[in-house]
Amino acid sequence: MNVRQALVYASQWVDKLDAELLLGHCLRVARPHVYAWPEQLLTPLQQQQFIDLFEQRQAGKPVAYLTGCKEFWSLSLQVDEHTLIPRPDTESIVELALRKLPRTVQTIVDLGTGSGAIALALAFECRLWSIFATDLHLATLQRAKANAQRLGLNQVQFVAGDWLTALNYLQADAIIANPPYIAADDVHLAALCYEPQAALVAADQGLADLFTLIEQAKMQLKQGGFLLLEHGFDQSASVQAKMRQAGYQSIETCYDLTGHARGSFARYMR
Ligand SMILES: C[S@@+](CC[C@H](N)C(=O)[O-])C[C@H]1O[C@@H](n2cnc3c(N)ncnc32)[C@H](O)[C@@H]1O
Repeated sequence: MNVRQALVYASQWVDKLDAELLLGHCLRVARPHVYAWPEQLLTPLQQQQFIDLFEQRQAGKPVAYLTGCKEFWSLSLQVDEHTLIPRPDTESIVELALRKLPRTVQTIVDLGTGSGAIALALAFECRLWSIFATDLHLATLQRAKANAQRLGLNQVQFVAGDWLTALNYLQADAIIANPPYIAADDVHLAALCYEPQAALVAADQGLADLFTLIEQAKMQLKQGGFLLLEHGFDQSASVQAKMRQAGYQSIETCYDLTGHARGSFARYMR
């Protein structure tokens, strides 16, 4: 079997882009290579690996878990079953943070860092920022730490623990998080069965962790500090009402690339 034949066969059953990514992974080459060398023959081992991955993809496993990596903000992040696959929507949270935060020395916190997506994108953009990235789960944090080391983004410090209790005495200029925010009975969860449920599901119709963070952040934001939370497209009214009630000001909505409300931003003045 050559590269063209493998792609033609697989593309009948799975997305063409997915087939190209899987084939590139088996051949240990970047995606453009599979266009440039359609006549290249697969070795029996490569062919077997491709069929194996292709069948797992057909069964619904996300490509990122099959190849072990996902592009986020032009960074190649390694992912595994302990980490949520970073989403393009979350790039709008990074974009808003970059628009709002001064490029001077700042202390920034990314809570529930997963693969390290938000913390590492911010570190990549501003070397002056001192960034703390946390996660409740050690295995997840190890993956984020390994991503930081591989990318040489050494100004990020990783701390394990439950939301802001992980960083007890720290006073931050900005606290950013993409916490779990899906309700336990949400029908979309079935399609996300390969991802860690602890990264997705929160109590109280998905609002419990968002509300905890709004309360906790007040204690650990400097005067005028920023809170930026990713949430579901239909959660901004509840999140922003909670922010107002907790005393935050200058509340704004962050929209994703498709124009859906994807996050809320606020400042805390004592
Ligand atoms: C929706 S995922 C976001 C991952 C990553 N920030 C991203 O945007 O791709 C939520 C993350 O929060 C972590 N998490 C869940 N509960 C937590 C808690 N109580 N304290 C700290 N992290 C928590 C999960 O392990 C998961 O990595």
